Amino acid sequence: MRVLVAYSSKYGATRGIADRVGERLTELGHEVDIERCDDVEYPEGFDAFVIGSAAYMGKWRKEARRFVRHNADLLAGRPTWLFSSGPLGTDRVDKDGNDVLVAAAPKDFEEFEERIHPRGTMVFFGALDVDKLRGPDRIVSWMPENDALPEGDFRDWDAVDGWTAAIDAELATSAA
Ligand SMILES: Cc1cc2nc3c(=O)[nH]c(=O)nc-3n(C[C@H](O)[C@H](O)[C@H](O)COP(=O)(O)O)c2cc1C
Repeated sequence: MRVLVAYSSKYGATRGIADRVGERLTELGHEVDIERCDDVEYPEGFDAFVIGSAAYMGKWRKEARRFVRHNADLLAGRPTWLFSSGPLGTDRVDKDGNDVLVAAAPKDFEEFEERIHPRGTMVFFGALDVDKLRGPDRIVSWMPENDALPEGDFRDWDAVDGWTAAIDAELATSAA
C-alpha cells in the first residue's frame, strides 16, 4: 500500500519517530513517503496515512492541525493513524497517579476523533535538548514549574516499532 507518514517537528524528535515508522513500514513491504505536513502536495495519492506532531502547551503544532483539518474528508475515508510526541522523562505515572501518556494526549485528538475517526491514536515519549531551544521555548523550559521538562532522549523505539507493526497488520486486513 502507498502510505504517507506526515509529521510536524520543531527540534527533530518527532521527525525521528516519523522516520522510524516510515522505515519500518517500508521494510514491511509498503511504499512509503515521509514528508513534513506543509510539504505534502498530493495527499490523494496515498492509500493510508500516519500523521504525527510534537505537542507544545498541550496542543499539536499548527502545521499538523492545519493538515488534518484541510484534508479531513480524505482522511476520514482512508485508514489513518495519529501520533503525538510529547511527555519527557521515564515515569509512566505522574505524582497524581495519572498515566503520563494518557494525560499528554493533545487537546486536538478529541476533535480529530470526531472528524476523521482515526484507526488509532498514540502518544510517544519525546526528546528535549535544552541547548537547541529557541526564544520563548527556552524561557518556558527554565520556569521552575516546568521541572516536568527534563532533558534527554526518552523516545521509546520498542513502543514505536510495536505500534507500527500493529498498523501493518491492520492494513493487511483492509487490503484483503
Ligand atoms: C516549551 C515546551 C513546551 C512543551 N509542552 C509540552 C506539552 O504540552 N505536552 C507534551 O507532551 N510535551 C511538551 N513538550 C515536550 C515536547 O513535545 C517534546 O520535547 C517533543 O518530543 C519535541 O518534539 P520536536 O523536537 O519534534 O519538536 C514541551 C517542550 C517544550 C520545550
